[in-house]
Amino acid sequence: MHIGCPKEIKPQEFRVGLTPNAAREAIAHGHTVTVQTQGGVGAGFSDEDYIDAGAVIAETAAEIFATADMIVKVKEPQPVERAMLREGQLLFTYLHLAPDPEQTKDLLASGCTAIAYETVTDRSGGLPLLAPMSEVAGRLAPQVGSWTLQKANGGRGVLMGGVPGVGPAKVVVIGGGVVGTHAARVAAGMGADVTVLDRSLPRMRYLDDVFSRDFKTMYASAGNTIEMVREADMVIGAVLIPGAAAPKLISRAQLSEMKPGAAIVDVAIDQGGCFETSKATTHQDPIYDVDGIMHYCVANMPGAVARTSTIALSNATMPFMLALADKGWRQACEDDEHLLNGLNVHAGQLTYYAVGKALGIDVLSPQLALKA
Ligand SMILES: NC(=O)c1ccc[n+]([C@@H]2O[C@H](COP(=O)([O-])OP(=O)(O)OC[C@H]3O[C@@H](n4cnc5c(N)ncnc54)[C@H](O)[C@@H]3O)[C@@H](O)[C@H]2O)c1
Repeated sequence: MHIGCPKEIKPQEFRVGLTPNAAREAIAHGHTVTVQTQGGVGAGFSDEDYIDAGAVIAETAAEIFATADMIVKVKEPQPVERAMLREGQLLFTYLHLAPDPEQTKDLLASGCTAIAYETVTDRSGGLPLLAPMSEVAGRLAPQVGSWTLQKANGGRGVLMGGVPGVGPAKVVVIGGGVVGTHAARVAAGMGADVTVLDRSLPRMRYLDDVFSRDFKTMYASAGNTIEMVREADMVIGAVLIPGAAAPKLISRAQLSEMKPGAAIVDVAIDQGGCFETSKATTHQDPIYDVDGIMHYCVANMPGAVARTSTIALSNATMPFMLALADKGWRQACEDDEHLLNGLNVHAGQLTYYAVGKALGIDVLSPQLALKA
């Protein structure tokens, strides 16, 4: 198969769909790989790195879209990219179609087959191609939160780990899933006093079994949540209700009960955020003040550490990318129901029920699409 990897063109996107190592593996499987010039530069990979791996460098995205059997990317294709997709071409990337009717219309019109990273599943019911980005965002949250807590940034001026004779920062993490667990581990590693709130008892049992030396757990009733938030120097929002907007757990009125200069890092902002006062910010202008509480609400946190994020994403996508290339999408999806769950679009038809429901479009069952 001829695998193509264009440079990402969405503003502020520095990741790339294939690392040189992933390209090398695909080539070792007998495939050819073309990468757009400077495609990996934002993640610290030069054209020479790809050439050393055996890939070919193309000057333009147009050359890649015109010739590749499979396009591997990070972000959803932008309008100019969608115009270049062809019938029968395979697209493997994040799509997030449910809130995006324009993109859905264009993908259907293109006749391509599109497999979305975010809906590929695993045996334990997880989302293996979303998890690496949650791990990154979770580990980054205390790092940006500690910066936000600094006096010059409007914060309380509290050091995460304290010093001998001065207590550590109190960090409260709401939601103990992938983001929350990684956030809590890093905050604890920085010496903070950390409590994780969640509504799932099995999840809290797991966290308590594995991490009881590092942080405490507490049931996320409304009463417990506001009590902990009142005492916190930093609150990290990490809840997720699959397929729904994040629940608003702290109202604007409740902000006034928090310590002045406390920091909120609302990682769940990509689902609307779990604080009433959260609004999405960018890496250029990441924090803002509401009633003396500093908010960090960057919707694409992994972009701040594009190199780590690219390698983590590529590690997770590589086995699927190789299966698609080795067997073709039909056989690969027939052999792996979890990869089939990633199928969102095939030959002008939508094949993912939740997207169809959100956009009011008829859906062809993915099993039937395999036979179409
Ligand atoms: N901003 C970013 O750059 C970025 C990056 C990655 C992930 N995210 C977002 O972070 C959020 C968390 O992702 P995840 O991968 O950790 O999800 P996850 O499903 O692994 O964890 C979510 C946790 O929230 C808990 N929860 C649900 N409702 C709750 C409530 N009312 N109170 C307390 N806990 C509750 C669940 O029990 C679960 O343990 C998602 O919205 C995800 O989209 C954002």
